Amino acid sequence: MPRDHFQLELGNNRYFQNHYQIQDIVLDKNWLIGSFGGISIAPFLLFLLVLTFLVATCSYRLPKKLGSPRKSGIFQSPLRQDVKNLPEQEEKELQSINIQQFLLQDLKKATHNFSTMIGEGGFGVVYHGCLTDVQQVAIKVRSASSFQGIREFTTELKLLSDIQHENLVPLIGFCAAEQQQILVYPYMSNGSLQDRLYGKAALRKCLDWQTRLSIALGAAQGLHYLHTGGHRCIIHRDIKSSNILLDDRMVAKVADFGFSKYAPQEGDSIASLEVRGTTGYLDPEYYVTQKLTVKSDIFSFGVVLLEIICGREPLNIHRPRVEWSLIEWARLFITNSNIQAIVDPAISSSYTPEAMWRVVEIALCSVEHHSARRPNMSDIIRELEDALIIENNASQYMGSIESVASGFRSSSSFKIPANSSFNLQFPVPITSQTS
Ligand SMILES: Nc1ncnc2c1ncn2[C@@H]1O[C@H](COP(=O)(O)OP(=O)(O)OP(=O)(O)O)[C@@H](O)[C@H]1O
Ligand SMILES: [Mg+2]
Repeated sequence: MPRDHFQLELGNNRYFQNHYQIQDIVLDKNWLIGSFGGISIAPFLLFLLVLTFLVATCSYRLPKKLGSPRKSGIFQSPLRQDVKNLPEQEEKELQSINIQQFLLQDLKKATHNFSTMIGEGGFGVVYHGCLTDVQQVAIKVRSASSFQGIREFTTELKLLSDIQHENLVPLIGFCAAEQQQILVYPYMSNGSLQDRLYGKAALRKCLDWQTRLSIALGAAQGLHYLHTGGHRCIIHRDIKSSNILLDDRMVAKVADFGFSKYAPQEGDSIASLEVRGTTGYLDPEYYVTQKLTVKSDIFSFGVVLLEIICGREPLNIHRPRVEWSLIEWARLFITNSNIQAIVDPAISSSYTPEAMWRVVEIALCSVEHHSARRPNMSDIIRELEDALIIENNASQYMGSIESVASGFRSSSSFKIPANSSFNLQFPVPITSQTS
């Protein structure tokens, strides 16, 4: 066999041709020995054998890595090859997700080259964008320094492609191109609950008590759906006021599912050794035992309820020592039946004590140290619904007083006869006021 032919054959990476070529080399051993001046050819042949095997293996894997046609999930897109920069496991998982995939250039256009920043969190920066004239979006770009990894990115995608609820922020799509991981959500024009309670938005306009109650109820319903609505119970693991977003109608929606996990089932080994959550909201029992249950979300939601009542952050070391922890500070006053001392001064004159007490009690139960003593989401929903009914009835009652009173004012020419035994009959309030 001429030497040129041998080199040409080696360059061809198809397995069968390589195989036959090796046979040729062995048969033509005398020619090879002659050309190397009698030096033993065995090690050289062995090296060639290994090299050929490697070339054959690579050529088998190559089309898969470069995005040749492959089986994908229900959603088929020519852009699927863009996920090739992800690790193989994550790449495979993304193939089966039925969610829209965007090109990076489309997102650059939608955000005017990522010019309007809305906020920033552990995942990265959030930008405002417009996909069409009417569809506003929030685009979350994973920063290179993010401690949240590709696993959180794919968890969010997998989970949100599976579940849908009025009180959960849906996912519009994603982009995984040019080493970027980007998530696209509908824009929640009223921002986060945290910002509305004690951020910049709170300085502009304070949230009234009734709106706070309906936000709490909406978020509770979203979380309840997560726990019980799907085929398996999902634990959010990062419930906090910045992960409760408000749409243009002030409807609360739970966001950020990057840390979420399916609740461990019977027979599962320890579900997760990595404890996840945010300081101030983290269930101390989960932290110590590393045993994950829905009661961890209940604890965090209890902290959110306290934030709603008090208009304060869960931890603040710039306050006097007794006020560092919102739970400890509030508990002190609640156990002394003094809720006026902890209620956000911005709503101090606009709540019905009975409704407030319902929320205070369920909040305090939710942050019990022992998880077994904490309520379920359905108990919390019931209490919040009752509180809202009480509050609505009270405000209707107040409204009726005002309209009767204003009726008198507007008809000032009307004179009550001096001998009249006219007696005003106000509707009896459903609520009994306690303090
Ligand atoms: N869909 C959205 N619509 C409007 N604003 C949003 C949206 N998603 C996020 N934001 C804004 O961006 C901010 C940052 O969000 P992000 O989820 O990245 O961080 P975080 O929740 O504040 O903190 P962490 O990363 O620790 O959860 C939010 O507080 C919110 O104000
Ligand atoms: Mg968030």
